[in-house]
Amino acid sequence: MHIKRLHTCCTLLKERPTNLKGKKHSSQLWLTRQLKDPYVEKAKKENYRCRSAFKLLEINERHNILSPGMIVIDCGAAPGSWTQVAVKLTNSNGSQENKPIGSVFSIDRQLFHQVEGAHILGNSDFTSLETHRKLRDLLNGKLVDLVMSDMAPNASGVRDIDHEVIITLAYSALKFALQFSKPGSTFLTKIWDGGKSSQLEEDLCKFYNKVKVVRPDATRDDSHEMYFLAREFKGLKAG
Ligand SMILES: C[S@@+](CC[C@H](N)C(=O)[O-])C[C@H]1O[C@@H](n2cnc3c(N)ncnc32)[C@H](O)[C@@H]1O
Repeated sequence: MHIKRLHTCCTLLKERPTNLKGKKHSSQLWLTRQLKDPYVEKAKKENYRCRSAFKLLEINERHNILSPGMIVIDCGAAPGSWTQVAVKLTNSNGSQENKPIGSVFSIDRQLFHQVEGAHILGNSDFTSLETHRKLRDLLNGKLVDLVMSDMAPNASGVRDIDHEVIITLAYSALKFALQFSKPGSTFLTKIWDGGKSSQLEEDLCKFYNKVKVVRPDATRDDSHEMYFLAREFKGLKAG
């Protein structure tokens, strides 16, 4: 089995630590990497809660998945940088006059701070039907334009196990998307590549006309993270 230490945490450091002595080796590595990472610096400057914002911005720049007026579900949203991007680009905070106003629903199993213009559901496990029901009630009959999942488990470091868990998370987002999305809508999900990636891709192809792998530059070089971008939902009857 391939063993690799993964850091899913994307917390931005408020201050540069001056002394790494006494810290565990893994924490030292993480801190050193954070300090050298240009996206961490950029996120601080542009007021994003974490560096992941640039992954979504880049995916959007290339594939144009977000626009004013859209209804978006952000799964695994804490600490909230994808939500910040989605609020801005869907105009769910109404900051762009004369443009349609969208809605962003952001869910995470952790509690996290409000983002103005988004409906935040913290402490909510996306694999639970209870969370899907809560969202269904909030949507109140409206269908969704984009379901995006950046959900990731706390990595164990055992690549095969972590792959299995993240695939389960991706399928829970897909299950929701199939039930609550508009025909023509988009689904974006993160996975860590492994043995079940091709099955997921095949399943996506049953329900979406266009499926591709995207790997934003902001994804760290040593990561086997990738995203499936599925477009043009066929509607459930087609599946
Ligand atoms: C990489 S972080 C997401 C970062 C986020 N996209 C951002 O830009 O701020 C992955 C998140 O997935 C969440 N997560 C993992 N399993 C989950 C589950 N079953 N339900 C909801 N959220 C989950 C974690 O709590 C974590 O906050």
